[in-house]
Amino acid sequence: MKVALIALSVAGAAISKPLAQQVPFGSQLHDSVVVPQADMPQVDFRVEGFSLDLNEPRLVQFEGHEPVWISEYQKLEAKANGRKFFDITDSADHFAAAQVKPTKTYDYPELSAQEKVTSVIKTLSTEGPRANLEKFSSFRTRYYRSQTGQESQKWLLSRIQEITAESASDSLQQAISISEFEHSWGQNSIVARINGTSDDERVVIVGAHQDSTNMWPFFPAPGADDDGSGTTSILESYRALLASDFRPARPVEFQWYSAEEGGLLGSQQLATDYANRGVEVYAMSQYDMTAWVKRGTKEVVGVITDYVDPALTDYNKKLIKEYLSIPSVDTKCGYACSDHASFAKNGFPSIFTIEGLFDDSNLQNIHSASDRIDVSPEFSFNHMLEFSKLAVAFAIELGGSEKSA
Ligand code: BES
Ligand code: ZN
Repeated sequence: MKVALIALSVAGAAISKPLAQQVPFGSQLHDSVVVPQADMPQVDFRVEGFSLDLNEPRLVQFEGHEPVWISEYQKLEAKANGRKFFDITDSADHFAAAQVKPTKTYDYPELSAQEKVTSVIKTLSTEGPRANLEKFSSFRTRYYRSQTGQESQKWLLSRIQEITAESASDSLQQAISISEFEHSWGQNSIVARINGTSDDERVVIVGAHQDSTNMWPFFPAPGADDDGSGTTSILESYRALLASDFRPARPVEFQWYSAEEGGLLGSQQLATDYANRGVEVYAMSQYDMTAWVKRGTKEVVGVITDYVDPALTDYNKKLIKEYLSIPSVDTKCGYACSDHASFAKNGFPSIFTIEGLFDDSNLQNIHSASDRIDVSPEFSFNHMLEFSKLAVAFAIELGGSEKSA
């Protein structure tokens, strides 16, 4: 790794000063856009292969606060200090973003596709996910502003294309479109869409984030659990559904988001675009960390109950009870911790299922060079498989068949 500019010079406020003292939380932001450049520490630091300007002003919304402008460096510092935020700089609705849209709610139907779901679940395997995740976590980092983060995205795209070509019949392939949702930073989000057979255009979404980060983004970030595991768990569901000649009544989309670690950037742009275009989302379920079973604990599926749609969460628990080999347990992130929140903000019902209780999750390794498959036997491909089952059940039951939808 070549560091082009070695000096780390900080003008103005000391970097070690707590962020709360540096950031002027200004209510004037709604009347006039003031970028408080003078208050921002200037950091002179560039690394080859990263297009990350640490002095770039970013509009960030901290939990429970009005949006404020801070530098990219201050944003990294905030994340390292455990502060929670949305980065809303690139969302079209900058200042409206403070107002969360009311969520449209639905009454989800009783489970009715047991035969189809159980037959597809039987075809799921740990082999594909293992091979895919070994490759995906071998990129030095999947940081959204890095060269290798672009390369990992292109690899994922080509893997999705290969799986589609290998697993779907010619006629099913006619109903599938694979596209990149482009972002200015170079790593694109990816959408694989299976068209519905009915005229119900409400979309069913299964998602995961493809990017990774180290606390200091220039350092290695294999991101095996966060969120290579979710990425490859849902990819296995997608493969098995295609191989079963899946023909949902509603459109079903598999989405892999860019830049979650930067403050939910990719999913916000995508969800905001859907809202602006009047696309309706029937249900969105996202998977962020699906591999870790903490030593000495019982294997469970963690169902996040805060910042989610309650009706869809209840429905998800029914799916777990009906189709998985392990029980669910309620847990909380305590903040808008992942991409489901971008959909909630745009008024779409969304949920989040995770590897276990929040406190039993892989907190000691994520965002570091040791978020690896081989770090511990606690990393489990069998556990990941339970999440592939859940995504299959979600897609089939909510995608509906011509008569049930
Ligand atoms: N996967 C994490 C969130 C997470 C961590 C959930 C541990 C459950 C247990 C996610 O990728 C992440 O890092 N989120 C950010 C917040 C986001 C808004 C930038 C975080 O937690 O700092
Ligand atoms: Zn994550």
